[in-house]
Formats: sequence, C-alpha cells, structure tokens
Amino acid sequence: MRPQPDFVHEFVIGKSDRTLLLLHGTGGNERDLIPLGQELDPNAALLSPRGKVLEHGMPRFFRRLAEGVFDLEDLQKRTNELADFVISSAKRYEIDKRQIVAVGYSNGANIAASLLLLRAEVLSAAILFRAMVPLTPEKQPNLSSKSIFIGAGAVDPIVPSSNSKELAQMLRSAGADVTIRFFQSGHELTSGDVNAAREWLHNT
Ligand code: MLT
Repeated sequence: MRPQPDFVHEFVIGKSDRTLLLLHGTGGNERDLIPLGQELDPNAALLSPRGKVLEHGMPRFFRRLAEGVFDLEDLQKRTNELADFVISSAKRYEIDKRQIVAVGYSNGANIAASLLLLRAEVLSAAILFRAMVPLTPEKQPNLSSKSIFIGAGAVDPIVPSSNSKELAQMLRSAGADVTIRFFQSGHELTSGDVNAAREWLHNT
C-alpha cells in the first residue's frame, strides 16, 4: 500500500513543475496561505498542511515553552514528520521533488528554517517571512544548492533584527544563497514583502 500523508492539508494542482509548500503561522490553517501562494506564483502547485500541535486550540507546527522559546525535542520530531509528509505527498501527487519551495510565515517560517537545517533534501528553495533561528544543528547541513529569501520586519516585536541576521548568517555559512530584506513593519506581512518575494521567486 502507498504511504498516505497524515497531515490535514490542501493540494492545488499547478501548471508548472514547481510546488510551493505553504506553512501558516500560529492559529492558521491549511487554507490561510493559498491566496499568498497564488500571488507568489500563479502557475505553481500548492501543498498546504495544517500544523498538528494545538496551543490553546490554535494550530502550530511545533510546541513552544514561551514566546520564542521552543521545545527543541518536539521541533526536531515535527520537522522530520513534516519532511516525511513532503516526501509521501510528492509520491502521491507526482510532485517534482527538485522543485519544492517552502513559503512560511512566522511559526511556519520557523519550521521551514528547521527543515533547511535538518532535512534540507526536501526543499530546493525557501521564502521565510518573519523567521527566527529555530535551533542550532549538531552537524552543519550542506545548503550550497539552496536559494533562500528572508523577509524581516524592521520593528518586529517578536523577532529582533539581530536574530533575523543571525539566521541569514547561519544559512549562508552552510553555503546557501541568502537574500535578506527588512521592511518597515512589525511581525505582520506587508505588500512590500509579497512583491519582493514574488520578484525574487521569478528570478530563482
Ligand atoms: C514561534 O513560536 O514559532 C514564533 O514565536 C512565532 C509565532 O508563532 O508567534
């Protein structure tokens, strides 16, 4: 029997071989980022899972102990679970595994960063909106073929600018081609982020 993905999710068929893996923020769901995915690349297929961890009823992709303080054991477990879901979904939906681009916002961006650090083989590129350093991997991954866009908020009360820069540095030192942009905003996503990410993706 073929393995079945075990995340509640949406899949939207695309017109190109690219798939965007959409990862929502805390309290979101699998439908939240579909319009964003369509705006970033109207031809791409969209794979959008719902985080399995509930925090006061709000879906997330991994447990946290406090704001910005992560349960690292759970984060590693959930990262592997999500990577396995991507692999089984690629089989199920006949997705080209070499063209999967993560698009994450906030908690979704943090698990996308964790995927890059622990299970980089499942992604070819990533767009990380309002991400922070999720963990420090024991072994440095090889990210030499990965392109990454980080959209940070200049006055984000949740992610200090220094943390966004630290994440960019961590990914760069693993060999990734990283573009980091700061927008005049807090933790919320702006049209500036979306326009810059769309242009970046178009050229990637
Ligand atoms: C997280 O928990 O991943 C970050 O604090 C972002 C958030 O979800 O608020």
